[in-house]
Amino acid sequence: VKLTTVLDSCLFVIFGATGDLAQRKLYPALYNLLIEGRLPENLAIVGTGRRLETREAFINMVDESVASFSRRSEPKFKNQFHRMLHYLQTDFSDSEGFAELASFLAQVEESQQTRGNRVYFLAVAPEQFGPITEQLRANRMVRQSPDTWQRLMIEKPFGRDLDSARALNAQISALFPEESIFRIDHYLGKEMLQNLVAIRFANSLFEPLWNSRFIDNVQISVTEAGGIGTRVRYYETAGALRDMVQNHLLQMLALTAMEPPVDLSAQAIRNEKVKVLQAIKPMTPFEIEANVVRGQYAAGLSGGRVVAGYRDEEGVAPTSTTETFVAMRLFVQNFRWAGVPFYLRTGKRLARRSAEVVIEFKSMPGVLYFASEPRLQPNLLVIKVQPEEGVALQFNAKKMGGTEGIVPVKMEFCQNCEFPHHSPEAYERLIADAIRGDTTLFTRWDEVEHQWRFIDSIVEVWQEASPSFPNYGAGTWGPREADELLRQDGRQWHVSD
Ligand code: BG6
Repeated sequence: VKLTTVLDSCLFVIFGATGDLAQRKLYPALYNLLIEGRLPENLAIVGTGRRLETREAFINMVDESVASFSRRSEPKFKNQFHRMLHYLQTDFSDSEGFAELASFLAQVEESQQTRGNRVYFLAVAPEQFGPITEQLRANRMVRQSPDTWQRLMIEKPFGRDLDSARALNAQISALFPEESIFRIDHYLGKEMLQNLVAIRFANSLFEPLWNSRFIDNVQISVTEAGGIGTRVRYYETAGALRDMVQNHLLQMLALTAMEPPVDLSAQAIRNEKVKVLQAIKPMTPFEIEANVVRGQYAAGLSGGRVVAGYRDEEGVAPTSTTETFVAMRLFVQNFRWAGVPFYLRTGKRLARRSAEVVIEFKSMPGVLYFASEPRLQPNLLVIKVQPEEGVALQFNAKKMGGTEGIVPVKMEFCQNCEFPHHSPEAYERLIADAIRGDTTLFTRWDEVEHQWRFIDSIVEVWQEASPSFPNYGAGTWGPREADELLRQDGRQWHVSD
């Protein structure tokens, strides 16, 4: 796919335009892109949803969403933004409504001279992905030609297991070629995950050490302090394994462990990522029991207030076995990583919100300083994804002054500490890339396939036995078994202060 610097005019069509995702993420992102001059000259945003009736009401809603969630306001762009906004109330489960939408889009296209190029953004519940795609087909709303394009941006979850993901993929790929499908994993839009690749491949300091000879273990941890919010219905059927590990954590693993790509194209990078996913060592049911920990929170103290346990959240079954926490040890079985454990951990209602990748280097032999202080800390390279965005390198140095002794010290780089709002939101990057036609930061089908295959193997074993939940208190670091998992190996989770 050829990427141009001049952006093609296009329609940006949002299904689910009155929903939570659109309000929290999409309008603020589009507004920020407009401020930065990163949108094509002719871009018309067409919202469609059930709730609002008129364009005026839609514009008001968008204004509110920008006021509440945008990292910048710059009111002078408001009018220009309003002019870009169009709205049609539609029930997209109804084919008449959809036909009306088709002709509305044709009208806007004509008046705004967007030349047939379209991004369709599905910000709807996953049950609607299939039906909407079917309607796009039936109404002939996708007709790729050499001069025009239509692209599909599709939110997670992409299926709930390998079979359903395959069925969904068959449906959308009958309509869109792979390079027109933008499967969102918003973690890939995060600054520091892109930076992880740059740090690895732009520094002779790190890349030569990036393998099993020098690295003892890798920890990928995404902890959340928040609970499940208003998404009970979805979360009850998903759980942390599907919600976070299947996509965000496995993508972080792929970026951390991949080989250098032959170039920086979407194909080349994704070719390397998929090989990592493919190389995750399959586990027998017995190994899954021993290597994967699940948890669910009980009531506890979070952010200084008492919060309910998961089973007491509104809408959750009192005997729910949905996991809100997962920790695991896995191996990437290839030449670079054989024998190096990767520890993954994620959960809701934990002590703190944080996402980071920790590279723990091998310890020095137990002589010299290590003979007298056997508990000396290892060297760590920490890629901090959020809330702080940066890198910390921990190493050992002599204690200052006359006293003997060695202490761990840190060199830190933080790119958002001084100016927290300078850092773009993931969706800004993702929307800009989809309009440019760059699929690098989106998940290719074969990656999804390998991700599900691995997750399904765990779900299958979990289904066999009921867990004894709840097993961790809100506001803690999760169940004891998650700490035990590392203690068995003589290791511990590293938590940045
Ligand atoms: C989403 C999950 O994909 O990621 C949510 O569905 C989770 O459950 C969210 O809270 C975390 O994203 P972020 O960007 O806030 O770390």
